[in-house]
Amino acid sequence: MKPRPIIIDTDPGQDDALAILAALASPDLEVLGVTAVAGNVPLDLTAPNALKICELAGRTDVAVFAGCDRPLQRDLITAEHVHGKTGIDGADLPEPAASLQPQHGVDWITNTLAAAQEREITICPVGPMTNLASVLQASPELAMHIREIVCMGGAFFAGGNTTPTAEFNVFVDPEAAQVVLHSGAPVTMFPLDVTHKALMSRHWIQQVRALGTRTSIAAVGMLEFYERFDVDKYGTYGGPLHDPNVIAYLLRPDLYAGRHCNVEVDTRSGLTLGMTVVDFWGVSGRPANCQYITEVDSDGFYALLLELLSKLP
Ligand code: BDR
Ligand code: CA
Repeated sequence: MKPRPIIIDTDPGQDDALAILAALASPDLEVLGVTAVAGNVPLDLTAPNALKICELAGRTDVAVFAGCDRPLQRDLITAEHVHGKTGIDGADLPEPAASLQPQHGVDWITNTLAAAQEREITICPVGPMTNLASVLQASPELAMHIREIVCMGGAFFAGGNTTPTAEFNVFVDPEAAQVVLHSGAPVTMFPLDVTHKALMSRHWIQQVRALGTRTSIAAVGMLEFYERFDVDKYGTYGGPLHDPNVIAYLLRPDLYAGRHCNVEVDTRSGLTLGMTVVDFWGVSGRPANCQYITEVDSDGFYALLLELLSKLP
């Protein structure tokens, strides 16, 4: 079968890095390009981080674009306290040999969608959704060319990780998330409700280490740095690995379950700014606009990730 064409829109981020690596490792996905956005750290770090990760995977052929350096309407909020000052602390990667593409990431996504057939391209936002929202605000008709938007963001049952009610990616750019949810394109969302049900284990990290490749060694460095924050915060045996769930779903949707329902983002200032209000029980009468994922086969997810990592140099 022809590999599924995808765009990864990302703010690396150690878990973003694992998502990029997983996608690049799969023969069933064709990564058309990677667009960076400001999020976990500013854009002048997320963009070169994306390049570094592609090079780590031996994929200097993948085009990497810098996108938006701030949310649509708000000041940028970053998360160095989670990801370290580089965003990918723990990896110790060399400066990239390749350069960023000269085109702005938003223009490149726009042109790529415009040149595509209806429902052809899958977009995988795993950071604040500023880039994709910018595309869809300027050219709403391009939503027709999107097969599926599979994003990491939101929280409802689990509570927030950035405020008591809001998850980081949506909190950083709530207006962007709302634009995406109302674009008319099919949206599948991976909130904290599902990512917190698949925690990394010591055993799994050891299995990654045992691969003994340069990618696995860098991955373990990143994962060990990254998971300490959530382990300390939640008192769990391991941390969640949010963003790679998006890639795992593309390859193995059977590992996940959720509900097609209405999701709205609270964009008003106040206690619940950036909250994804999920009408899981269909009480609002508002139309369903999102496949909201809540269940995961955690063992299956980590087995798939290990298998993908084992394919990389
Ligand atoms: C999300 O925020 C970032 O810190 C992670 O990379 C993930 O995309 C989790 O809330
Ligand atoms: Ca991310």
